Amino acid sequence: MSGQPVLFFDSGIGGLTVLREARILMPGRRFVYVADDSGFPYGAWEEKALRAHVVGLFADLLKRFDPEISVIACNTASTLAIDALRAAYPGHPFVGTVPAIKPAAERTRSGLVSVLATPGTVKRQYTRDLIAKWAQKCHVRLVGSENLAGLAETYMREGFVDEEAVGREIAPCFIEKEGRRTDIVVLACTHYPFLANRMRKTAPWPVDWIDPAEAIARRALSLLSERAVESFDATDDLAVFTSGNPDAAQRRLMHGFGLRVMS
Ligand code: DGL
Repeated sequence: MSGQPVLFFDSGIGGLTVLREARILMPGRRFVYVADDSGFPYGAWEEKALRAHVVGLFADLLKRFDPEISVIACNTASTLAIDALRAAYPGHPFVGTVPAIKPAAERTRSGLVSVLATPGTVKRQYTRDLIAKWAQKCHVRLVGSENLAGLAETYMREGFVDEEAVGREIAPCFIEKEGRRTDIVVLACTHYPFLANRMRKTAPWPVDWIDPAEAIARRALSLLSERAVESFDATDDLAVFTSGNPDAAQRRLMHGFGLRVMS
């Protein structure tokens, strides 16, 4: 194989929501998708341990795949480890994924915005700083969900999801205050767009759901050199599972996204 690939990294299937946008924007590129399934879910990890874990994984990934850039298609990892990754691997471009608080603050009419994320992302100083910087005039509710990333994994593997459970997880996003209502929910975990239809269905009232996938893919495209644009066979795109042992459903899913599972 020739040409350096674009590497996508997530704890599981969430980064596929970004990869599918990247495929549209950069059809001539080769992709490697890395699912750290042995570390999933990231939401509950202790911060220091997760940072060291992610930085450690990249030593091997950069050596093995020699990507042109790496997209950390995971809010939970980006908000914690993006600076450490850049420091550990200077010269290698990393694109991060952070909660889309700025566009939400620009777009809200009611001034009530909710950020739906893993408990890890909600806790991060990075997230608090984004709110202080961009959303001072809004009321931002941070909603940490224990179960939504897992529900998205189940849904994508098995085609079924417990809608009531989705409804319960998103319910705290909806607030009413002095005659105003939440009008924007930021999907600050890359797994969540897979459940967007179920969220719409179980939401108490309609809101805008902000999915930053396209913006992240655009950012990645802007960092790529022109010379790397070539045509590759679909079979050149790879999926890697850190467990080394994906089950049949995971394999099927990756295959559906045009990725050949490396074993
Ligand atoms: N997809 C990840 C994110 O964007 C997190 C899922 C998890 O590992 O809990 O935050």
